[in-house]
Amino acid sequence: MDYLAHIEEATQYIKSKTTFEPDYGIILGTGLGALVNDLNQPEQLNYEDIPHFPLSTVESHSGALIFGYLGEKKVVVMKGRFHYYEGYSMKEVTFPVRVMKMLGIKKLIISNAAGALNPDYQKSDLMVINDHINLQTENPLVGRNLDTMGVRFPDMSEPYQQELIYMAIKIGKEENIPLHQGVYVGVNGPNLETRAEYNMLRLIGADAVGMSTVPENIVARQMDIPVFAVSVLTDLCYPGHIKKISVEEVIEAAMKAEPYLTDLIRKVIAADSV
Ligand code: HPA
Repeated sequence: MDYLAHIEEATQYIKSKTTFEPDYGIILGTGLGALVNDLNQPEQLNYEDIPHFPLSTVESHSGALIFGYLGEKKVVVMKGRFHYYEGYSMKEVTFPVRVMKMLGIKKLIISNAAGALNPDYQKSDLMVINDHINLQTENPLVGRNLDTMGVRFPDMSEPYQQELIYMAIKIGKEENIPLHQGVYVGVNGPNLETRAEYNMLRLIGADAVGMSTVPENIVARQMDIPVFAVSVLTDLCYPGHIKKISVEEVIEAAMKAEPYLTDLIRKVIAADSV
């Protein structure tokens, strides 16, 4: 069976289990899962029960779609996301984004943990992504185009919705949430970068580096879904500050920033017109 049929089957299964119609899709990054605790009237569907859904390798069986209200807004949250470095193809990584579109989402919100390349950034700061550089070696759109979902050559002139970026910056100022705005570069991973690589990534124009977000963004933009994305800066990757880091430190730094991130996402969605 083909990819499109798999997307349709997964969608049909979900629609047979819930009548909830989400307006926003939310993908939560490493150490940033607590937003699901803020959902009202949550309904959970485990990835393992949804036909053709990839299964999360890192969090074993914890992956799930959670439907519910964030404030007044109807959202579906991906608890557990898929990374290319886990061995999934980019089509698998982005499968849930296609399914969320079929479920009716109007906008996509993404968070991630990333390394800070910009020397003005501190650990646990937040960065609203205003553009990206794709250095990942596989592109989710390669192959026969799914014409019913979008065009062959999607425009990328506004990969992250300007209106939501402005809104986030305004909310950050009003609420005293330390917030930067910058360019995210997506790499394959799973190893972190060498000093020379961090230098290069800074030189080509990036402010933060991470291993996710870009494929989901590309697929969403192909389907004309506006995207808002935020990086939590978990380690400092500029000269004088590069040191040995562990995944535990990354998660700890992410968790420290988590309340600010959750607050920001909730307020941006609340202020948005959808
Ligand atoms: N590099 C790539 N991905 C990351 C990093 C990093 O330094 N930190 C968190 N995710």
